[in-house]
Amino acid sequence: MNTSTQAPFALEVSGLTRTYGEGVGAVHALAGVDLAFPSGTFTAVMGPSGSGKSTFLTCAAGLERPTGGAVVIDGQEITRWSEDDRTRFRRERIGFVFQGFHLMPYLTAEQNVGLPLRLAGHRPDRARVRSLLERVGLSDRAGHLPGTLSGGQQQRVAIARALVTGPAVILADEPTGSLDSRTAHDVLRLLRSLDDRTVVMVTHDPVAAAYADSVVFLVDGRVAGRMDAPTADAVAGQMAHLDDLVAVEAAS
Ligand SMILES: Nc1ncnc2c1ncn2[C@@H]1O[C@H](COP(=O)(O)OP(=O)(O)O)[C@@H](O)[C@H]1O
Ligand SMILES: [Mg+2]
Repeated sequence: MNTSTQAPFALEVSGLTRTYGEGVGAVHALAGVDLAFPSGTFTAVMGPSGSGKSTFLTCAAGLERPTGGAVVIDGQEITRWSEDDRTRFRRERIGFVFQGFHLMPYLTAEQNVGLPLRLAGHRPDRARVRSLLERVGLSDRAGHLPGTLSGGQQQRVAIARALVTGPAVILADEPTGSLDSRTAHDVLRLLRSLDDRTVVMVTHDPVAAAYADSVVFLVDGRVAGRMDAPTADAVAGQMAHLDDLVAVEAAS
């Protein structure tokens, strides 16, 4: 549940590497990533396909153990924890939002939002679940099954679910990838409005990235640059010139 201690960085990774395979066939999906996400910020992670975005998220989430380096969440270095400890930690301290929503089809919106509390062994707190549904604008849909909700509404249920345990960080992988642009706008505004929360969102849409406080660019498993107060045009321009960014980094 909500901790009283507030680490300055909700999520920090240092020297993060992840290598798949060995020898000449080895793929360095992450080749030494250092990033710190201050509590209460909304960051977009961008990069071309294959640049390591998904690997970064799964390592940050403790779903996958990095080859090297450290992941610190809420001041806790989880990298070398056992699988069980990381699973327990993840259930309470990390919220996930997926492109495909991943709601349980046979549970109502309210039951879906309460599910992480059940999985973490807590009694579902009805008032808390209701207030989260209100926060995402779905008070009147509490009893609905996902199949009777629009894509945007389903994603808002998923965001309420991601918030329910009071996680240190919310990790979102292309959360608007399946939504039309108007619905995507509502979901991104909602993510941006969570200013007491730390949100890290992988996207390859410059318009989506522009809702974040800052953008981090990954190329070939490395941080190739970052941009504060992004605009869609500036992000699109940068994405078109990522090779230049890599050259600048290499020269500095
Ligand atoms: N399980 C895996 N086994 C082998 N190679 C992988 C695996 N997962 C990812 N990769 C490789 O690591 C690189 C980064 O992948 P990924 O993190 O999925 O990139 P992105 O999400 O930016 O498209 C790619 O070259 C990909 O092919
Ligand atoms: Mg990916």
